Amino acid sequence: MKKLVLIGYMGCGKSTISVELSKVLHIPVVDLDQVIEEKHKMSIQKIFETKGELYFRKIEHQLFSELIQNYETMIISTGGGTPCYFNNHLLLQNQSVFSIYLKGSIDTLYERLKLSEISKRPKLSNLNKSEAKEFIAKHLFERSYFYHFASKVVAINDKSVVQITNEITQLLA
Ligand code: S3P
Repeated sequence: MKKLVLIGYMGCGKSTISVELSKVLHIPVVDLDQVIEEKHKMSIQKIFETKGELYFRKIEHQLFSELIQNYETMIISTGGGTPCYFNNHLLLQNQSVFSIYLKGSIDTLYERLKLSEISKRPKLSNLNKSEAKEFIAKHLFERSYFYHFASKVVAINDKSVVQITNEITQLLA
């Protein structure tokens, strides 16, 4: 394995788990959203607002494919939509990639997103709480086709970061 790629819906813990895995496995981590924000000197929210989602998806695709083709070993934390655009799900099938879908239920994701900063997530920021839950349910259903292109699925409901990290390291052993 050269690339460990974490995918899953917003709020499933991709960034947190990838940082934890990086510590345990001593492999560098690259957070797609963070790199995009640094490169463009703008928050993801601002990129959506000023340049539009299509522009974001193009730069996300470009960066993701560059990273997959890069020969170095790394953990890649994707954005919630990454596998769902520009055939990025097919890049998950690259020989050098081992990918994990961090799968949460609608309730788990909703509860976590409610507690986190919804305003920083352009796909959710203009919804009230009840609209948000309905949106998550539909959106997750649409996206789950792409998420299931992952090499393995790890359920996250009611599990701690340590438990999830351990499960993933066992899958790699
Ligand atoms: C998105 C998820 C975000 C970020 C962007 C779009 C999505 O990442 O890439 O706001 O379409 O689900 P997180 O999953 O880290 O919130």
